[in-house]
Amino acid sequence: MKPLQIALLGAGTVASGVVKVLARNQEELQRRAGRGIALAAIAARNPDKARAALGDALPITTDFMALATRPDIDIVVELMGGISPARELVLAAIAAGKHVVTANKALLAIHGNEIFAAAQAKGVIVAFEAAVAGGIPIIKAVREGLAGNRIEWIAGIINGTTNFILSEMRDKGLDFATVLKQAQALGYAEADPTFDIEGVDAAHKATILCAIAFGVPVQFDKAYVEGITALQAADIRYAEQLGYRIKLLGITKNTGEGIELRVHPTLIPATRLIANVEGAMNAVVVQGDAVGPTLYYGKGAGSEPTASAVIADLVDVTRLHTADPEHRVPHLAFQPDAMSDLPILPMDQVVTAYYLRLRVADQTGVLADLTRILADEGISIDGLIQREAGEGEHQTDLIILTHDTVEAHMNAAIGRMQTLPSVHAPIVRIRKEELR
Ligand code: NDP
Ligand code: HSE
Repeated sequence: MKPLQIALLGAGTVASGVVKVLARNQEELQRRAGRGIALAAIAARNPDKARAALGDALPITTDFMALATRPDIDIVVELMGGISPARELVLAAIAAGKHVVTANKALLAIHGNEIFAAAQAKGVIVAFEAAVAGGIPIIKAVREGLAGNRIEWIAGIINGTTNFILSEMRDKGLDFATVLKQAQALGYAEADPTFDIEGVDAAHKATILCAIAFGVPVQFDKAYVEGITALQAADIRYAEQLGYRIKLLGITKNTGEGIELRVHPTLIPATRLIANVEGAMNAVVVQGDAVGPTLYYGKGAGSEPTASAVIADLVDVTRLHTADPEHRVPHLAFQPDAMSDLPILPMDQVVTAYYLRLRVADQTGVLADLTRILADEGISIDGLIQREAGEGEHQTDLIILTHDTVEAHMNAAIGRMQTLPSVHAPIVRIRKEELR
């Protein structure tokens, strides 16, 4: 049987991994898929650069649209990133009856509903394993392996760049800018690294996980997004002293009233496996009602780890492309006519615990004022440490850990505490999850 013909759009980090791994594992892949998978051509805007990275064994074109819609192409693999022209190319490929494999979480988190509807109407597959957690097969696990469960929550380290930055800053005492440059050189960071450090990339991935876990449409615009740029070394140190690590977590939870969808730095107990995930590694905990907690760990970024996921999708599509579309796994795990309209909750309705750091006057009554405000707002204190003021110092750091509370109550409490004359600097608030 003639091998399936693949068109690659883009010739960067992930594309070069795909070219290498496809060539290296060709025979094994044919045995798995039952049919050859052949790269027909690559579209690159700079052919010389593409040839330098990928060699000159394959035809290279600069006409992306012509390649994406070429009659002999069976599967279009979009590895350009960004929204436009990726969206137009993917939609054109679908309209031309091609299956699509993409690693583009930004595109799917924002335009996934449109793209999946177009694919459904045309009877083609859009596969996106590489879009979340790089090489970890988390899409397959949630969509298929855990299909017997009602998913309760998912929490994950789903951005390799920020986890690499936090690990290197903590372990080697390196500064933020130096480590970010290293992450870029290692091919972890997005073309625009602010997407990584401001939490946007993790939010794209959390949005996709949320959709396939709970059977809701992708709703990136409803996600709460906070990155790591405001994190201070002092809080990383205090967290350690209290037995916690700070990680940028993507969290999505079904509360019954609605769905939480949020990305922010989070204190997690240092004893949890996920707290010990370092460097560019990713890890995702999925809590199902039947199975309990499951943990998925692996490389979340980089050329060949991401290629591993792209090629798994190619094998899946090769196996399934002649199957009746009705018998394929639905794009968002649930049948398109059985999607839920459970709302994404606004952040002030989210329930979580908190770490607060306050710079306060070292004087009688300060603690009483603060704890009274917390009690007034119905917030229960879980732990508290006060750093001893040094010789001649009149201010000190006070760290308060709270039990779970509604974010709106915490906002009110912080607002009131901040107005006390004894509180000398903006209060630092970091959310805390026990992940039990
Ligand atoms: P790169 O920036 O390394 O490669 C992107 C490629 O697409 C380059 O060849 C680039 O050309 C080309 N390209 C980008 N924009 C355009 C455009 N507007 N028109 C034409 N060509 C364009 O990105 P990656 O390989 O790292 O990422 C590819 C996709 O995979 C992204 O969606 C990313 O989010 C996703 N991803 C990446 C991972 C990683 O570890 N790197 C992991 C998981 C997913 P040029 O070289 O000229 O800029
Ligand atoms: N920039 C992303 C990260 C790439 O650092 O995780 C993988 O999606």
